[in-house]
Amino acid sequence: QTGYITLDYGFKNTGSTSSAITFLDGEKGILRYRGYPIEQLAEKAEFLEVAFLIIYGELPTKEEYEEFKDAIVHHTLVHEDMKHFLEAYPRGAHPMGVAASMVCSLSTFYPESQDPNRPKKAIDLTIHRLLAKLPTIAAWSHKFSKRHPVVYPNNKYDYTENFLYMMFSMPTEEYEPDPVVAKALNKLLILHADHEQNCSASTVRIVGSSQANLYASVAAGVTALWGPLHGGANQAVIEMLENIRKDGGDTDKWIAKAKDKEDPFRLMGFGHRVYKNFDPRATIIKKAADDVLDKLGVVDPVLDIAKKLEKVALEDEYFVKRGLYPNVDFYSGIIYRALGIPTEMFTVMFALGRLPGWIGQWKEMIENGEPIGRPRQVYKGANKRDYVPIENR
Ligand code: SDX
Repeated sequence: QTGYITLDYGFKNTGSTSSAITFLDGEKGILRYRGYPIEQLAEKAEFLEVAFLIIYGELPTKEEYEEFKDAIVHHTLVHEDMKHFLEAYPRGAHPMGVAASMVCSLSTFYPESQDPNRPKKAIDLTIHRLLAKLPTIAAWSHKFSKRHPVVYPNNKYDYTENFLYMMFSMPTEEYEPDPVVAKALNKLLILHADHEQNCSASTVRIVGSSQANLYASVAAGVTALWGPLHGGANQAVIEMLENIRKDGGDTDKWIAKAKDKEDPFRLMGFGHRVYKNFDPRATIIKKAADDVLDKLGVVDPVLDIAKKLEKVALEDEYFVKRGLYPNVDFYSGIIYRALGIPTEMFTVMFALGRLPGWIGQWKEMIENGEPIGRPRQVYKGANKRDYVPIENR
């Protein structure tokens, strides 16, 4: 503490705002969106219903929900010029990088998103466009990465079915989204929809606090989510589990690596800044993994390795002492894989789910009239000194 500045790396003990959207209790493993327990929403709601709840504060009436879905379905197409952006990316460009720049460039096509007066009509239109177009951008970045023809959205499908249709259908054959897959995806998107002041949501807020438009603010959120300590963990978990499988499935060896004092291996999918007992989302996803793989008749050897790793970790004092339990990213990749989603797309799936949370928090920050985010620092550099001409250095 120096003078009036309190230094708090990673904001571990700092509240950056007040919010009415998501409530977390890290000790009791509680997660609620606008007061509704995640367990109920994941089981009973549709993703767009939860998006409406998070963004506008209440569950929609039937009329409101039909109007909201209708507004979104009429914006699922992206401007044809955006295909040129996709063509410019080299093969193997990570879809998170593609998504971030494509989302940011949406503001080029829709100037009302940059209206400094932020009229409600323009904000709502921007919200509808973003919810509608991110699935298309995500699916198209996947198709381009395989140099397959992109598939245009078909508005006869609902939100998740349309995404699956754009991801997996080919012009050469009939394709109908599997209802089991669509239902599992709906649940996963709900489980990711918001999580109070996580790294990416805080990023969206601070970028939006400068009056940057919603597309630019959400693009910043996508880039923050990309990191392996945050949303990128779901891809890193599967890569880790695959390495353990290739290494003979010896989970004890990997647990020992995580406890190595010299060079500790970070077990991806374990630990959380807030949840110190269990992540309620991981509990739901672990159960869903069994259900979905069973329904789809998929046997994935890494699921057994994941369960073994979890069991060993939960009995190990090192992990228990540090409150290291599986988080939302630990099992989600196993389901995405069973749904046929490629590993490099896992974090994009997280972004699809988190989009309503980013939007809701950006909107709340504006409605709260919050000032531009500008934290201070504790200076630890050189004292005053005079310039030395280069010939004397
Ligand atoms: C998400 O914030 C959110 O809400 C995020 C999220 C959301 O919905 O938005 O929930 C989504 O990002 C989930 C987290 C996904 N990330 C991972 O799974 C990556 C692995 N986990 C970590 O890197 C870590 O646990 C964090 C980043 C999640 C939390 O880090 P903290 O709170 O800053 O904790 P820390 O790094 O200070 O670790 C505390 C101790 C340390 O040991 P000591 O120095 O005290 O001896 O626990 C150890 C760490 O070394 N530790 C781990 C570990 N995570 C922390 N040791 C082994 N494996 C791990 N995964």
